[in-house]
Amino acid sequence: MSKPIPIAVVGSGYVGLVAAVCFAEMGHPVICVDNDQQKVTALQEGDTLIHEHHLPELLGRYRNDRVRFTTDLAEATRESDAIFIAVGTPQSETGDADLSYVEAVACEIARSLTSYKVIVEKSTVPVYTNEWISRALERNGVERHLFDVVSNPEFLREGTAVVDFLHPDRIVVGADNERAAAILRDIYAPLTSGEYYQREDGISGCCSVSEPPPLLLTSTKSAEIIKHASNAFLALKISFINAVSNLCEAADANVEQVARGMGLDTRIGPKFLRPGVGYGGSCFPKDVAAFRAVAEQMGIDFSLLTEVEKINAQQKKRFVSKVRSALWNLRGKKLAVLGLAFKGDTDDIRESPAIEIIRMLLNEGCSVAAFDPAAMERTQQVLPAGGKLRYAADAYEAAKDADALLILTDWAEFGELDLRRLNQLLRYSIIVDGRNLYDPAVLSDHGFTYVSVGRPAAHPIRETSTVAKA
Ligand code: UGA
Repeated sequence: MSKPIPIAVVGSGYVGLVAAVCFAEMGHPVICVDNDQQKVTALQEGDTLIHEHHLPELLGRYRNDRVRFTTDLAEATRESDAIFIAVGTPQSETGDADLSYVEAVACEIARSLTSYKVIVEKSTVPVYTNEWISRALERNGVERHLFDVVSNPEFLREGTAVVDFLHPDRIVVGADNERAAAILRDIYAPLTSGEYYQREDGISGCCSVSEPPPLLLTSTKSAEIIKHASNAFLALKISFINAVSNLCEAADANVEQVARGMGLDTRIGPKFLRPGVGYGGSCFPKDVAAFRAVAEQMGIDFSLLTEVEKINAQQKKRFVSKVRSALWNLRGKKLAVLGLAFKGDTDDIRESPAIEIIRMLLNEGCSVAAFDPAAMERTQQVLPAGGKLRYAADAYEAAKDADALLILTDWAEFGELDLRRLNQLLRYSIIVDGRNLYDPAVLSDHGFTYVSVGRPAAHPIRETSTVAKA
């Protein structure tokens, strides 16, 4: 039987909140600390704050019991053996990560640290952050033997965060001594021993008793680099396939076939080879910039990452050009836009390509009726309705009398629309799909002009269907 380890998680954002409830699910008592009283009260009262599968269920199981929410970091520090720092590391103006929140937390921990603790970096941080945290603690009067700083990066994706946490491909622990490593091993023992996967009420996923996740022990600096390098590599894979998709468009080839042909090579693998409107979210754009900034500071030329960013930015502009080519002029056109979140299954709109594309279309003089199953509320805070922008109650209401329908987020339901109904509602039967959710042949059969990414455009079998309807 694994033993419960008292844990504090500082920060109740995506990573912090998910880590807190998942550690509780693994059997550990957890105190989740946030300095935002409103957020803490909301969590205490059962609000999950984010749209995430399994989160309501786990919060329901452990809220105010095995997971407590508080603003009191001093108390959480005293009561825990391991303190996970999961606060934001936003992008600064120069591209590097702004670590001021991490520093503030380290200084506050220092004030109440009287017995040995492992301080764990869970936020995505540049290499050397562990040394800065150690220095901050020592400068604030903590003796060196009272703490170790460990890096334990998180690889969860929004939308599948809980399953990713409890069924990880790997657990990376960067620790420079055995005492600290042993505590992290104990914390993850329910997963690495397979014990968790025997539970009947456990969240299911790809790990099992016979195939538990491996724990990779590295130096602290290597673990810090593993996180940045992994995200930068995934972003590179996406930009690579987007560049290939542009080539496919020029050559009249099909990027889906190319990606499949590449992905069957086990050295390349099929994942993250979906072309689209570019990557977004709170991680890839920020982490690619931060990784490049770290390299630069160390005198390493990593301009490959500049190209990754360049392709990503171009992909959004290319999409707008496709809409223009499909409609001739953009000024005065009425567009139905499906998707606001940066990807499907989330209400997160941070760095969402959809929002940027809508802004470009509005600037071009289009009017937009937008719909997203989860992200409308958040979007209205940054792009309020009014003028040429309105929000629709569903995909069909957005499509009514529009000159074209655009798909910008890969929600599963956008790939299952009633095509006959859409065809009747749209003014012109034109779909520009930035996520390749449909088979071009099917849309052409249904009378649509269908433009997607890296695949030949499809045209209606019936000649008249892109002519304005009465
Ligand atoms: C990403 C990583 O996948 C996680 O491993 C990591 O833990 C997380 O960042 C983080 O650092 O916290 P996430 O941002 O939730 O997770 O989203 P992804 O599923 O990776 O998608 C990122 C973006 O790439 C989305 O805009 C998505 O639409 C796009 N994407 C993804 C593509 O355009 N093509 C693909 O093949 C895959």
